[in-house]
Amino acid sequence: MLPAAPVSSRLPVFPWDRLEPYKATAAAHPGGIVDLSVGTPVDPVPEKIRRALSDAADSPGYPTVWGTPALRDAITGWCERRLGARGLTHHEVLPVVGSKELVAWLPTQLGLGPGDRVAFPRLAYPTYEAGARLAGAEPVPYDTVTDLNPAGLRLLWLNSPSNPTGRVLTPGELRESVAWSRAHGVLLVSDECYLELGWDAEPYSALHPEIGGGDTSGLVTVHSLSKRSNLAGYRAAFLAGDGEVLGELLTIRKHGGMMVPAPVQAATVAALADDAHVAEQRERYAARRSALRTALEGRGFRIDHSEASLYLWATSDAPCWETVGELSRLGVLVAPGDFYGPAGARHVRVAFTATDERVAEAVRRLS
Ligand SMILES: Cc1ncc(COP(=O)(O)O)c(C=O)c1O
Repeated sequence: MLPAAPVSSRLPVFPWDRLEPYKATAAAHPGGIVDLSVGTPVDPVPEKIRRALSDAADSPGYPTVWGTPALRDAITGWCERRLGARGLTHHEVLPVVGSKELVAWLPTQLGLGPGDRVAFPRLAYPTYEAGARLAGAEPVPYDTVTDLNPAGLRLLWLNSPSNPTGRVLTPGELRESVAWSRAHGVLLVSDECYLELGWDAEPYSALHPEIGGGDTSGLVTVHSLSKRSNLAGYRAAFLAGDGEVLGELLTIRKHGGMMVPAPVQAATVAALADDAHVAEQRERYAARRSALRTALEGRGFRIDHSEASLYLWATSDAPCWETVGELSRLGVLVAPGDFYGPAGARHVRVAFTATDERVAEAVRRLS
């Protein structure tokens, strides 16, 4: 029997359920739905990665939570090449089963609970708040890190490039956040899952030596292969940063059996070793982004931020659900900005993760 106040009662209604009626409207369009809401990759998994997965299909034994040495090498190599984080050791990396589970369970795994506070950007991926609530900690949305009250603050989330706004924090802003969190003894966790998807700005990692000073203390970064390598279906992600924090998580996750399947570990090694497929995928997204941006602007939308990530953060100054309704009648489904916090009430998030054919169809309908 469930307790009187089950854990789920701490959480809001799962936001995507509220979009269902609009999805039904969009799906009824004679030309079919163009779904630009969730932002799930639609392009093929690159051949090299599929081959690595199937070559490792004969994996009868348990994988390890820490991952194979080859996976840890692939992660440290990628961190050096793409983040500029030189000389990370295997103790400073940890595979996770997609980054969403980590975001949702990190406060709990760190032992946070009532009386502890977890801060995240005012407009943000909803799982930061869900994670705080699952732990029974207090969620604290912020506009500016340095204005936060550090009392009871145990975990500070950064997300650059941002979901949903596509905003990129400058090296100066990142440096300031790192200095502030270190000065106040708050663990800074930087979700960088869109790092390789910068368009009009160059995203920096918190682990870049110019940001963190070449030292991982108090810093953990979160990376995902879902977007860069079209691997959302594989659940491939990892952490890089403070070895003490990652060691604690490793212990807990070993007890919890939170293992990345062995074939996915092998696929991740292949994916991290290759930048060509990322460049190819970026080209696809760049073309879709530019076509959708022009069409939305032509229809009177203003695009805010959106210098990176897979989204256009668009507004016509109308309430977001009105815009969702208007576009759903054109058969185009987008996400209401208030999914990401009340500050998004007049924006919609338009993902450019649809096929070229579907994006061309959206452009035609918006024009
Ligand atoms: C900011 C952010 N973090 C984490 C995730 C989770 O990604 P995954 O669980 O596929 O690694 C997403 C997914 O959209 C996201 O937007």
